Amino acid sequence: MAHWLARIMAAQDRWARPFGDFNHRWISALFRPIRPIRDFLSGVWLGHPLHGAATDLPIGTVVLTVVLDLMNQRAAADVALAVTILAMLGAAVTGAADYADTDGTARVRATLHSTLMVVALAVLAVSLGLRAGNPADRTLPVALSIIAALIVTAGAYVGGDVVYVLGNMVSRHAFRGAGTKWIKLDTGDVTDLATLPESTPTKVRAGINDLVLVRVGSAVHAMHAVCSHAGGPLAEGTVVDGCLQCPWHASRFRLADGRVVHGPAVYDQPAYQIRPADGGGYEVRRAAS
Ligand code: FES
Repeated sequence: MAHWLARIMAAQDRWARPFGDFNHRWISALFRPIRPIRDFLSGVWLGHPLHGAATDLPIGTVVLTVVLDLMNQRAAADVALAVTILAMLGAAVTGAADYADTDGTARVRATLHSTLMVVALAVLAVSLGLRAGNPADRTLPVALSIIAALIVTAGAYVGGDVVYVLGNMVSRHAFRGAGTKWIKLDTGDVTDLATLPESTPTKVRAGINDLVLVRVGSAVHAMHAVCSHAGGPLAEGTVVDGCLQCPWHASRFRLADGRVVHGPAVYDQPAYQIRPADGGGYEVRRAAS
């Protein structure tokens, strides 16, 4: 079953890829000048993707609409349908904020997901419009709501793939332990961190992890070199307003503690403490979050 569904989704790539690229251009341009709003819609303030939370309501209310229709609870069904439309609009806006920074196959699949949801929304709007006329025979508007609920279910399945299969908006540090052990830092040719160039990211290694060091005055900050959003190389980033900015989608993480200040990342970046090691050199340990 899963393979069959995967094949159906992959078959849509032919139209979804160019359509997604087109949509990505204007949606990115739309959100670029309103960064605080995009941060809010992405869920930076929540520390969690807002779209994932916002989609729960319309999925629940569209099912409720169908149940109430089948029970012939006309007024209640119509209210549930109106709430579904409003909730879907809210979910669409939060999804668009994430879409603005989605690349590759995830963007193609997110295009399929959003197209299905827009079609479902249109079908629901027609159903609501027909209901507003208070028809004696509600067969058509009820049938449309059922069809829309099935499309929403298909769209939710595709959206699940965007997250669970393609890892979009999943923290790149989800499986990284918050170890308490000090680990020897491999700084290459640099023997004294005080000689690091000011406000310039420098990539170093600690065990199996790449870290990025940034010296600001007498303080040397360390965080993981892989961006929590989509794995961007933070060692190639820039220092802006006390933050390290990712070169891929411009998320900003506070140098002092790795806190996300601007999205699209919603998860903090692992930060590390540094101290001189016995016998020379330095060692690091993941800072408590
Ligand atoms: S990878 Fe997207 S902001 Fe870093």
